[in-house]
Amino acid sequence: MSDLRVAVLGVGVMGSYHAAALAERIAHARVTVVSDADGPRAERVARAVGARVEADPLAAIDAADVDAVVIASPGFAHEAQVLACLDRRIPVLCEKPLTLTADTAYRIVEREATLATPLVQLGFMRRFDAEYAALRSLVASGELGAPLLLHCVHRNPAQSDAFTSEMMMRDSVVHEADVARFLLDEEIVAVTVKRPRASREAPPGVSDPMLVLMETESGRLVDVEISGRSRVAYEVRTELVAEHGNAMIGLDGGPLVARTGGVRGRVQTAGFIERFATAYDTELQRWVRAARRGTVDGPGTWDGYAAVAVCAAGVEAVRTGARVPVELAPRPVRAAA
Ligand SMILES: NC(=O)c1ccc[n+]([C@@H]2O[C@H](COP(=O)([O-])OP(=O)(O)OC[C@H]3O[C@@H](n4cnc5c(N)ncnc54)[C@H](O)[C@@H]3O)[C@@H](O)[C@H]2O)c1
Repeated sequence: MSDLRVAVLGVGVMGSYHAAALAERIAHARVTVVSDADGPRAERVARAVGARVEADPLAAIDAADVDAVVIASPGFAHEAQVLACLDRRIPVLCEKPLTLTADTAYRIVEREATLATPLVQLGFMRRFDAEYAALRSLVASGELGAPLLLHCVHRNPAQSDAFTSEMMMRDSVVHEADVARFLLDEEIVAVTVKRPRASREAPPGVSDPMLVLMETESGRLVDVEISGRSRVAYEVRTELVAEHGNAMIGLDGGPLVARTGGVRGRVQTAGFIERFATAYDTELQRWVRAARRGTVDGPGTWDGYAAVAVCAAGVEAVRTGARVPVELAPRPVRAAA
């Protein structure tokens, strides 16, 4: 079977990382087309990975030399691009969030359910991280008894002033929404957000940090501290509390180094690429392997929709201070193959 020919739409931080991975590290795939609203950026990345540029992302999806698509454009562009991939019946790896609203995300769920096989994989790379996978296996084994609580910390060292409280919810907390569903294997039914005194690092009107409390259908609680401007490092920790034990991941287990001056310690990961580098590549390799067979292998449109719905409730909870229910539409049954 020949290599999967991939179009990468949006080659900023995430898309250029995926494009380089496809060119250098991922087996049985190559980037043939790059598209980005920023023409010179598209040219630069295309040259680096040996691809051509298509200015219009929809034309890239339709191109004869494209078998599958990686969407790493901003969230507002995802809906049209994912739907175009479904129209052409080609596999797509779409970065989170699936779309910006629950309604638009659900339309994609419904559209994809009319097809014989799933074609959309969501970029929830934590599911491919060895620590998250191990934690899920531990939960599934029943060794710790029933899970009761999940404590999550998600701190970014810095963000631009454009990163508002709403974006912290839609772009960052969306990962915890997915992780909670992945680890606990049930839906989130309500979200409450508490806004402590804001850091002076945050621009006026931005609530940073925030405490997000999610309730699951069986009555478990998931708390998330989300910080956009901690000025420390990229810290993502998850602690599960169960009936007969607890387990924590994300402790940055690199070498313990002693330095001149007598300070001994571990270096924390600087950003999401450093922390999840292996997970991104595992995700991409699994997607490539499945896409060559005309399908996907990972979180799908329903996971994308559920996470968007949780974050939409979170955005409303930030605005109103109220506990906001998450009401999911019925899960469609896939049409028979
Ligand atoms: N999975 C993760 O951990 C993770 C991490 C970072 C970003 N992301 C997601 O990846 C996506 C991109 O984020 P980023 O940080 O790379 O952003 P970015 O701003 O660095 O890059 C986005 C790129 O898309 C281009 N673009 C704008 N409109 C476009 C369109 N209609 N079609 C094609 N390209 C267009 C921009 O010019 C830019 O080059 C977002 O959905 C984001 O949430 C996921």
